[in-house]
Parts: sequence; C-alpha cells; structure tokens
Amino acid sequence: MGKLTTTLTALTLALSVSTAFASECDPGEVVAKLSHVTGGTTHPKVVAANLLADRVNKEMNGKLCIEVFPSSTLFGDSKELEALLLGDVQILAPSLSKFGSYTRQYGVFDLPFIFKDMDAAIRFTNSSSGKELLNAMNNVGFVGLGYWMSGMKYFSANKALHVPADAEGLKFRVQSSDVAKAMIAAMGGSPQPMAFKEVYGALQTGVVDGQENTWSNIYTKKFFEVQDSTTETSHQLLAYLFMTSSEFLDGLEPAVREQFLKISNEVTQTANENVKAKEQNNRANILKAGGKINSLTPEQRATWVETMKPVWKKFESDIGADLIKSAAEA
Ligand code: SIN
Repeated sequence: MGKLTTTLTALTLALSVSTAFASECDPGEVVAKLSHVTGGTTHPKVVAANLLADRVNKEMNGKLCIEVFPSSTLFGDSKELEALLLGDVQILAPSLSKFGSYTRQYGVFDLPFIFKDMDAAIRFTNSSSGKELLNAMNNVGFVGLGYWMSGMKYFSANKALHVPADAEGLKFRVQSSDVAKAMIAAMGGSPQPMAFKEVYGALQTGVVDGQENTWSNIYTKKFFEVQDSTTETSHQLLAYLFMTSSEFLDGLEPAVREQFLKISNEVTQTANENVKAKEQNNRANILKAGGKINSLTPEQRATWVETMKPVWKKFESDIGADLIKSAAEA
C-alpha cells in the first residue's frame, strides 16, 4: 500500500510538472531552457525571447529546441545566473545592471544620462568597445550573444517628482547595481535593492515609495496602478545581456552551434529595430489605462543631470575612464 501511494504521488508529480511546463520539444532533441523575469505580451524581452524560440524550433527542428519560461516562473533574478553556471538553464537575458558581482565594467550602462537615447546606446553596443564587453565574463563561463535593448528608464513614485529634491527622503527600489544605489543617494533618497518580481507588492504596501523602469515594465507589471505618477526623466538605459554558458555552447555540434549563433544575431537585430515602437505603445497603454505621466521642462531636466553628475566620477576607476568616454561619445 505504501509503495502504491508512493508510485501514485510520483505519477501525480510528474503529470503536474509536465502540465506546468508543457514542452513542444521532441524526444532526442537538445533542449535549451530560456528563463526571464518579464511578462505580458508587448514587452520587448518577451517578444525577443519568443521570436528566438519560434525561429529555432522551426528552423532547427530535430536539432535544438528552446523552451521559454517568462515572469520568473523558473528562476527569479537573484538565482538565474547561478543556475546558468550549474546547467539548470541554458539561455538568459538579465538586465545589464545585475552583473555587479561578476564584472564592474557593466556599470557603464548604468551611468545616469550617459546615453541620450536608445539609438546612442545601440551605437555604443555596435562599437568595438561595446562588442568587446560581450566577452567580459568569459572567464566565469558566461558568453554574451548580444544586447537586447529595452528602453530608457523613468522614475515613478507615490508623489509627483519634478526635480530631484522631490525625491528627498523617499525609498526607491533599485536593481542590484552599485551605480543605481549611488544615483538614488545623490537625489537624497534611500535605495532598496529588490528582485523584480517583488516590486509591485513593495510599491503597493508602501515598503518602497518609488522605482525606476521602462514604459514596458511599468505597463506590463502595472506599477502605474500603485504610483502617483511617472516622470519622463530618461535618466538611464535598461538593456539586457542575451547570454548563454560556454558549457552549453561548446557542447553543441559545430553546425548546430553555427546555426544557433546565426539565428541569435538575426533575432537581436530584429528585436532592437522594433524596440522603440514597443516602448511608445506601452507609454500610450499607461495613459489609456489611467496612469499619469509628468513631462520635464528643460530647466527641470538640467537639475536631474546636474544632481547625478558626481556619480560618474565615483565609478570612473571601477569602470575605466576610456570605456566611459567611448560610451559618452556614442
Ligand atoms: C527586466 O526588465 O528584466 C527587469 C528590470 C528590473 O529588475 O527592474
């Protein structure tokens, strides 16, 4: 009887696992799990990840198959990098702000107002310095396949923010980035690092007063519902490192690897071409859903730039003056 119960429990567990993660992959195919933390249908990372899976699963049928796990359903952002090194997941696209324990150089992407807009960021990532940065963590076993742009970031809070002084004394959720922490401190706020999936609850319950993100994250995660308004600061970039592990990549047959890399490059290009329109749609979606957006006058914008300028100096030796210069010149 005990044995029968155990068998039934194991069977139930197997069935529930296969229902939760129904796989389109055929037996015998190499399977790559792609885990990410964003959600909805209109988010640039969701669209890029699904496009990658669609193309690989169609064009490489029988050789390689990608299963996508969105919205932190497989790993949240505190565990996913470790999971990649352990081989529990094979493809990720974390925000470039989340690599502080592996490389200081990626701090360049977080410097406030370093990129005028996403086009400048794309120019930098296509430059030789940007391309070199894809290999910054090869020694750890991480391989950068490309940069997926997401958007510029804006501050939201439980009160309207027009100038940095409005943020004095407020608690802001940040990603695990020392640059972001220094930026909030420069505004007189208190930075609270937190996993992405906890942000909505923290804003709703008042654990934090505000956060910074793209239109796509503010819309798809409904942050606008639990904030007074969002201010068009465009103070920072949010972009992702589309990545895998050297263990996974080196383990593929050479021809399979080549085809996977080719599709990966093409998907990266397509994703970055469409990203601005997706961001603008999600900005419009926020307004349609009743969210409030504050624009800045040129004078107000200048106060944000001025307040955050000292952050660059603070991280110059960590990031490297040359790298900062080439990003700023882009
Ligand atoms: C993401 O877009 O992947 C998450 C960004 C965040 O943690 O704010």
